[in-house]
Amino acid sequence: MCGIVGYVGRSEAAPILLDGLRRLEYRGYDSAGVAIVDGDKVETRKCAGRIAELGKLMAERPPTGTFGISHTRWATHGKPTDQNAHPHFDATGRLALVHNGVIENYQALKDQLIRDGDRNFSSDTDTEVLAHLIGKLYDASMAVDPGSNGKTKASLPNKKGRLVEAVRTALRQVIGTYGIALVHQDIPDFIVGARRGSPLVLGVGKDENFLASDVSAIVAYTRDAVYLNDFDVVAVERDKFEISSVAGEAGNYQLSKVEFTDADIKKGDYPYYMLKEIFEQPGSVRDAMRGRLSHEECTAKLGGLNMSPAQLRDVGRVVLTGCGTALHAAMIGEYLIEQLAQIPTEVEYASEFRHRNTPMTRDTLVLAISQSGETADTLGALRESRRKGYRTLGICNNVASTIARESDGGVYMHAGPEIGVAATKSFTSQVAILTAIGLLLGRMRHLSTSEGTRIIDALEALPDQIEQVLKLSDQMKAIARKYASVNGMLFFGRQFNFPIALEAALKMKEITYLFAEGHPSAELKHGIIALVRPDLPSVFITPDDAVFSKNLNNIEQVRARKGPVIAITSGTGADRLAKIADDIVTIPAVPDYVSPILTVIPLQLLAYHLAVELGRDVDKPRNLAKSVTVE
Ligand code: M6R
Repeated sequence: MCGIVGYVGRSEAAPILLDGLRRLEYRGYDSAGVAIVDGDKVETRKCAGRIAELGKLMAERPPTGTFGISHTRWATHGKPTDQNAHPHFDATGRLALVHNGVIENYQALKDQLIRDGDRNFSSDTDTEVLAHLIGKLYDASMAVDPGSNGKTKASLPNKKGRLVEAVRTALRQVIGTYGIALVHQDIPDFIVGARRGSPLVLGVGKDENFLASDVSAIVAYTRDAVYLNDFDVVAVERDKFEISSVAGEAGNYQLSKVEFTDADIKKGDYPYYMLKEIFEQPGSVRDAMRGRLSHEECTAKLGGLNMSPAQLRDVGRVVLTGCGTALHAAMIGEYLIEQLAQIPTEVEYASEFRHRNTPMTRDTLVLAISQSGETADTLGALRESRRKGYRTLGICNNVASTIARESDGGVYMHAGPEIGVAATKSFTSQVAILTAIGLLLGRMRHLSTSEGTRIIDALEALPDQIEQVLKLSDQMKAIARKYASVNGMLFFGRQFNFPIALEAALKMKEITYLFAEGHPSAELKHGIIALVRPDLPSVFITPDDAVFSKNLNNIEQVRARKGPVIAITSGTGADRLAKIADDIVTIPAVPDYVSPILTVIPLQLLAYHLAVELGRDVDKPRNLAKSVTVE
């Protein structure tokens, strides 16, 4: 949520910052701005609206200079207006700061600043308060008489050191979360960054360095990155950087190679990232399984779990947690782990789990699922579990993300960057990985070699089957057109496909803004059937499985009330549905436990095509942002 880019080097900063913001726009897109220092003058351009608006502003009056900071915003405190757009300035207008996160005690800090005589606030944001506080502390340190306290001028820190110290002192007073970057017009070629709870990456280049909320902003310039830790403060210059902590201790760091390239984050010939990412699923599911299935031992090999066979055998209970789409993957994980490994498994909304006192047994394994690895609620749930002493695992896509780093072990999705706000390929990778975890835990218990082999075969067949399902895109487009004037849709499924009903409804809401609900099919008669009417289609996810005939009964109930029915089915399902469904979509027949990986794809396509039909901004739906780093 919110994207930050900073640059210090020998090139003009403006195009680099603007390019970085465009790549981070998925993190927030209600206002944007830059601050660039030229000589001893800081120039800012900022406005409400998309990065394109900022681009126009910068083209009209190009700011020059070789270091600066920039920001794309998802509003928390204060409406998305020109005034509230970042960067924000201190009281003197010489220090500019961008911020991702929430300063919870900003009002108390602001009251104190006002009491001290600082009334020069021009926005409603929490960020401006932090800019003022740092500026005030810096100015106070510069006002110190070099001769006082027995210190000589030489023994006092220089401007850079004083600015870093002012940042530390201010951050020690802050309650809340932050990823920040700031510049001061009196200190050439110098950026300070810091993080707590909001991601910040240092990109290390040749005679130039970068700061960014995530590496996609800077991968076109460098693939050498340092993922900063909470409470790190980094002082960045052209040819060096220094990491310390908010407490003032020297910091450790590790240089990592970004695993994808600039080409991987281009849209190519696709009109939207979402469509590109839907079509990447044969490869992303293959990559999620690559090197992780052993035909020899008829099981999965997941070394990243960092658990010995004895520890895996001792798992007596599993708690799966996440938010949004990741939570829906977790719900499938519950069915999978219970069916394949017979281990009691529960799913918890991360946002609820972290705040309640769930009874847990010592042998509980907590799995946090998150594409970004930065979702604040999921991270909160993970930290709470760790605090209480439970073993935690992360299933993340973003390498070196906070959840990945703070878990005891985990499995990376290797799905490649997911940029569309609507999660698609990360979902199918999560479900594939949860199947592998179910297989591994099952094979350590009762699951036979032949059952293990069947599961591996089913997983390995998926990429080709996904290719076949993607051929349904035109059919889904035709269905989307047919129903383009409806006000909403209902989604129903049973067992492994009940979470798909939820996921399909989420996709529909998120990118078409239509009312949509997902339910277990059998719940229809307990209330939802009251909604059924001729202009509200019901989508049934009903592959040819053990509960097919039960779904058939529910479809009849909808038909009897003149509700249109779209059915996603397999095998002989199409024949049996011919007379009662208005639209039938047939996917390959597969075992029930892998079917969600296929059934979800036509529904991703349905939401996509309907959103396009309705003229929505598919990749940047209103009010949303990709990575939700606020609570
Ligand atoms: O990065 P995460 O997987 O933790 O994100 C969790 C949710 O915010 C995310 O799945 C959200 O619901 C998607 N926009 C849904 O398409």
